[in-house]
Amino acid sequence: MTGEPRIGDVFGELLRDALAVATGVGPRPLAGGRLPRPVIEVIERDDGLVNGAPAAHYLDGPEDWQPHDHRAVDRVRGATLDVGVGAGRIALLLQERGVPVTGLDVSPGALQVCRRRGVRDLVHGTVDEHATSGRRYDTFLLLGNNLGLIEGRERAPAFLAALAAMARPGAQVIAHGTDPYGTRDPVHTGYHELNRRRGRLGGQLRLRLRYRELGTPWFDYLVCSPDELAELVRGSDWQLADVDDRDAPYYLATLRLPG
Ligand SMILES: C[S@@+](CC[C@H](N)C(=O)[O-])C[C@H]1O[C@@H](n2cnc3c(N)ncnc32)[C@H](O)[C@@H]1O
Repeated sequence: MTGEPRIGDVFGELLRDALAVATGVGPRPLAGGRLPRPVIEVIERDDGLVNGAPAAHYLDGPEDWQPHDHRAVDRVRGATLDVGVGAGRIALLLQERGVPVTGLDVSPGALQVCRRRGVRDLVHGTVDEHATSGRRYDTFLLLGNNLGLIEGRERAPAFLAALAAMARPGAQVIAHGTDPYGTRDPVHTGYHELNRRRGRLGGQLRLRLRYRELGTPWFDYLVCSPDELAELVRGSDWQLADVDDRDAPYYLATLRLPG
């Protein structure tokens, strides 16, 4: 035994358990085999910082959403790709509104949870893989902080190009990001400094997720300021058309294809 987690579908497992807790159907985490336990997503950062976040919110209905989630779905138009669909909370509302929506995710378990909750059109894979499918969209959603999937300077051009390859004329990306630089917590400001010294963006987080005995490989996930986002978007096919920071430090960025 090494103490290291077994690599697996962390998101899928925790969403499956969160669904079982919410519905009372299926095996769920119990203390002493009897008492319900909350399903917690454990997030490790490569400086040793560990955080836990309850997974139940991935299943929240619109009545429990943050205001920016509502503003994001109100901006949706046309065929929509929900990138990193999770447990399908956004896709389900769009379906209800009659929006043609596809949920994309790398987690087989997340897609299974979406299917069980009624999301109809689901695709397994990354944006790069889906870009070869020939399907085209008017709106791309990166919600639940999924602007993070842009990762950093190295990944951003290919990520944005994959979205552009699936875009219809006039398409938009609506992305939820977090500006990390308002903090004075030395644990975070020190990490931002360390990142810059190693040539990364300050908020280019190196993370792995854990749930029970499972872990993901280490991956990059970006929290950046709107100015840093503008720099990442420059040189791509997209233009940063709008930043709505009414819920700062969270913001909704809208990217558009010119023309
Ligand atoms: C933070 S959750 C957000 C879920 C959902 N968008 C929401 O708002 O509730 C991130 C989701 O993105 C998925 N994901 C992570 N990396 C991905 C990638 N490269 N391509 C597609 N989905 C990815 C995860 O499996 C997970 O379901």
